[in-house]
Amino acid sequence: MEKIIIKGGKPLCGKVKIGGAKNAALPLISSSILLDGGCEFCNVPQLRDVETICKLLELMGAEFELKQHNLKIDASNINKTFAPYDLVKTMRASILVLGPLLAKYKKARVSLPGGCAIGERPVNLHIEALRKLGALIEVKNGYIEAKAKKLRGREIYFDIPTVTGTENVVMAATLADGVTTILNAAQEPEVVDLANFLNSCGAKIEGAGTENIVVSGVSSLKANKVHNIIFDRVEAGTYMVLACATKGDVEIINAPYSHLHAVVEKLEGVGASINVKENGLRVKMKGKIKHTDIKTMPYPGFPTDMQAQFTSLLSIADGNSVIAETIFEKRFSHVPELVRMGANIRVSGNHTIIEGVDHLNGAPITAADLRAAASLIIAGLMARGETTMFGVHHLDRGYENLEQKISALSGSIRREKSE
Ligand code: EPU
Repeated sequence: MEKIIIKGGKPLCGKVKIGGAKNAALPLISSSILLDGGCEFCNVPQLRDVETICKLLELMGAEFELKQHNLKIDASNINKTFAPYDLVKTMRASILVLGPLLAKYKKARVSLPGGCAIGERPVNLHIEALRKLGALIEVKNGYIEAKAKKLRGREIYFDIPTVTGTENVVMAATLADGVTTILNAAQEPEVVDLANFLNSCGAKIEGAGTENIVVSGVSSLKANKVHNIIFDRVEAGTYMVLACATKGDVEIINAPYSHLHAVVEKLEGVGASINVKENGLRVKMKGKIKHTDIKTMPYPGFPTDMQAQFTSLLSIADGNSVIAETIFEKRFSHVPELVRMGANIRVSGNHTIIEGVDHLNGAPITAADLRAAASLIIAGLMARGETTMFGVHHLDRGYENLEQKISALSGSIRREKSE
């Protein structure tokens, strides 16, 4: 067990480099199952979730070499089509192997992900869509048992534009017979990155990044492609909020501006000055943070993955702010911890009502999920005095070298063993 100790109250200044996107890396690595040989991914973030998906593919028989930010993987000779509970329970995104396994091997046994700290997060839409493509799927003894003689292209309408659901169907449809049209598809940049990679391997995917994706099935996908993973918009957004929350001046190298419009708009709204640079963004903040209201929405709306970080920021705004969380029903575990630091925040249904206070005070706090952990780190750096954050393993799922990056911005932060 580890803890992070922060001495807050100092403006963060300098440069920070953003890495590859976790939520692009996970489907990309899963998609290697579809190929007729190996491939190489560059700009792979060094994160626990990336290790987990590699471990899962290795367990199935894939071979990989992960060196720094480079991953060579060959999943073309998988001998098990099984994703065990042990791994899926540590990372729900393991469900991303379901579509490719069905498409390539016509069978899969994948543990049904349970609920998690941020919501129930069912996978019914993944299952219904794959059934429409011709899979026979039973949910038995905690496992999704899927098989198919053949997958056939169909029209699929998603009730909710699910991100990993869209990715699973895109991957399955790539090797299906005929044309699959996904209506109300997720439009996230990570879906586009997956489609770009698969197209470079010979897939025929059109419309990724819009609400209608059309996949014309092909018989096989070429190997040996090298793909550069897009930069992580949530990591970038987190450092943007950090710069603003500590009244600092930070240049965020590699921040993907075109994926961050909603975040930029809100930060400018609270008073930050944001300059677009050739290779990123510069965020500066002086004076009092202005209050604002936020509603999380599917992309290109304001991302739920940035909600917790903005809650910390707005806790010291000059008035009242309301945040509506419309994607996940329980994504508020950071709130009671922020309250322990002196914030005045109430949760009512899917809204947080934030009355800005003058400052936060350091306190011992515990993170219960990844983005809550990021929001508590921001709060610790904003606060007067010392904060000790427990639940550090959540942070390691999605932020590479966070303490090193913050220390280089002159933030006082260190990790220690905790009993
Ligand atoms: N939903 C259903 N049924 C389904 C699938 C989704 O009801 O079969 C609901 C969910 O419960 C949720 C909504 O649809 O209310 C949207 O969920 P979505 O399926 O889009 O989420 P996801 O694909 O499981 C990805 C990211 C999350 C991010 C969400 C929303 C990955 C690996 N994960 O999850 O990232 O919050 O999209 O943008 O891409 C994170 O990085 O911290 C994280 C949680």
